[in-house]
Amino acid sequence: MSIIKDKNILLGITAGIAAYKSASLVRLFIKAGANVKVVMTPASKDFITPLTLSTLSKNPVYSSFVDEEDDTGVWNNHVELGLWADYFVIAPATANTLAKMANGVCDNILLATYLSAKCPVYFAPAMDLDMYKHASTKTSFKKLASYGNKMIPAGTGELASGLVGEGRMAEPEAIISFIEKDCLNQLPLHGKKILITAGPTYEALDPVRFIGNHSSGKMGFAIAKAAANLGAEVVLVSGPTHQKVNHNLITVKPVVSAEDMYQEVHKHYSNTDIAILSAAVADYRPKTVAENKIKKKTATFSIELEKTKDILKSLGEIKNKQFLVGFALETNNALEHAKGKLIAKNLDLIVLNSLQDKGAGFGVSTNKVTFITASKDVIEHKLKSKTEVANDLMQQILKQFYA
Ligand code: CTP
Repeated sequence: MSIIKDKNILLGITAGIAAYKSASLVRLFIKAGANVKVVMTPASKDFITPLTLSTLSKNPVYSSFVDEEDDTGVWNNHVELGLWADYFVIAPATANTLAKMANGVCDNILLATYLSAKCPVYFAPAMDLDMYKHASTKTSFKKLASYGNKMIPAGTGELASGLVGEGRMAEPEAIISFIEKDCLNQLPLHGKKILITAGPTYEALDPVRFIGNHSSGKMGFAIAKAAANLGAEVVLVSGPTHQKVNHNLITVKPVVSAEDMYQEVHKHYSNTDIAILSAAVADYRPKTVAENKIKKKTATFSIELEKTKDILKSLGEIKNKQFLVGFALETNNALEHAKGKLIAKNLDLIVLNSLQDKGAGFGVSTNKVTFITASKDVIEHKLKSKTEVANDLMQQILKQFYA
């Protein structure tokens, strides 16, 4: 999933031959899941038609202050357009428009929108090599950088003039990946590695039977998505579940038993910044696993169980830089038990969910949690969707992690 999914992208097009590539750019933004609106300078319409761009973006295209289709003189509100945008991307950006942007000139709707936009602005210059090198253009670049605008550098190659050199607008794919990377860099957990456990574990009894539990994995998967949306690289170690995830920052490591989960988690832990253990790990497993299917011969049948390894506790014991988060599922004396686990397992934060709360627990898509921090702060939340709980948890972690 692209980081620009569901973002509002305002594409500004100016009068350069590279405007013919704007059609591909709009398509790629749409393919990445973004909403696109286009604002053009009047002269750019000689290079690409508004009809092409409105068809591809599925939105009206703006090129003047009044709606040209409508003789009642409807005003195209450049301020609203600027406020709508999460990102304003000017591509191609000609030397003329860049100079005007650098100096606050505001003689068309694109420039008026630029001056009123509060969102991050990217520009992809496109011009002939001598224009690109000119001291005046360089001054524009510098001024725009000082305003916080980000330049997507031009490439080198054959130019419309027939000359070969620097000044070709970056290819649409390169523009998108520049923006995606830049957005990722801004995220608070960019560069951080997060290890998450999710789902149940299955402890084999014989080749066809196991001891398991009702955990659906929903909470752990929601946490993984919330963490990845904050820019973290996530390793999600999951027991058997039907949950699916498609995010380029999440790597799923499927496991079956508590022992498999223990081994997989320890492979990644030393390289982890934050570990969140939400899995419902079996506390016991059959002491022996029958080689063949157990036959029903006797009236009663007992299984001897032995303890599994406590994964969370083992991480608490070797913790150095890691921020460690555990879950506690309690039916009685919940707060007291959860505080006990926080200390016993050397955690920074524990998420308490009580099975007594209606709508909380296994299988359902809601949860009611209380966060308890290492400094014993108790933060209660009301019943929320697991996605909201995951976001609340990540906000709490951010607060403590960067404290
Ligand atoms: N956990 C773990 N490995 C285990 C058992 C539990 O990593 N073998 C983790 C869970 O993922 C959860 C936390 O420990 O984050 C608490 O699990 P819970 O079952 O509520 O508590 P236990 O410590 O197992 O204690 P008890 O079952 O006695 O309440």
